Amino acid sequence: MSENIVWHNTSVSHAERTQLNGHKPAILWYTGLSGSGKSTIANAVDRKLYERGCHTYLLDGDNVRHGLNKDLGFGDNDRVENIRRITEVANLFADAGLIVGTAFISPFKEDRAQARALAGERFIEVFVDTPIEICEQRDPKGLYKKARAGEIGNFTGISSPYEAPESAEVHLRTAEMSVEQAAQVVVDYLLS
Ligand code: PPS
Repeated sequence: MSENIVWHNTSVSHAERTQLNGHKPAILWYTGLSGSGKSTIANAVDRKLYERGCHTYLLDGDNVRHGLNKDLGFGDNDRVENIRRITEVANLFADAGLIVGTAFISPFKEDRAQARALAGERFIEVFVDTPIEICEQRDPKGLYKKARAGEIGNFTGISSPYEAPESAEVHLRTAEMSVEQAAQVVVDYLLS
């Protein structure tokens, strides 16, 4: 970290932002394999929250990699840096009072633990638990096929690890539920 920098407190407090928005901020941290349904479920939740009048924003893996993180690839170090930046950005949005969804594979436990440590009690981990066989059958972007053919290296679940959460606040077994049901489980958790 650079020297000679000093933290400034903002004049509008968290409590004031919460009062203005009519709800507390939160970070809904979706994690799961490629093709597991993270983005689809996160978007369905975002829509439901928006319709309830909540102030939300969704950070999505592919989109963030088009801009902020376009210098990063899929090696371990780049994935760690990807999630570190997302963690910081999600916290800034939450500081602004929003309910933030983050839909990234975020394959490493340690990185998710650091995100949790920074966010504190507003962190809600949502495990989008879809077996790799189903993700591979769906293969919406044809990436599993390419990974099996050796055309993509470091592919999560095939040539790069995925460390599943052991005690996520919300565990969605997507093989047993529709997108609508999964989204409702997340919203119900948030409301409770
Ligand atoms: S990570 O692991 O959290 O840094 O990944 P993330 O930023 O979420 O990006 C995942 C999306 O990138 C595409 N993609 C790959 N995924 C996994 N492994 C490799 N090698 C890879 N190459 C490209 C893929 O479309 C992922 O999108 P989702 O929505 O997860 O399927």
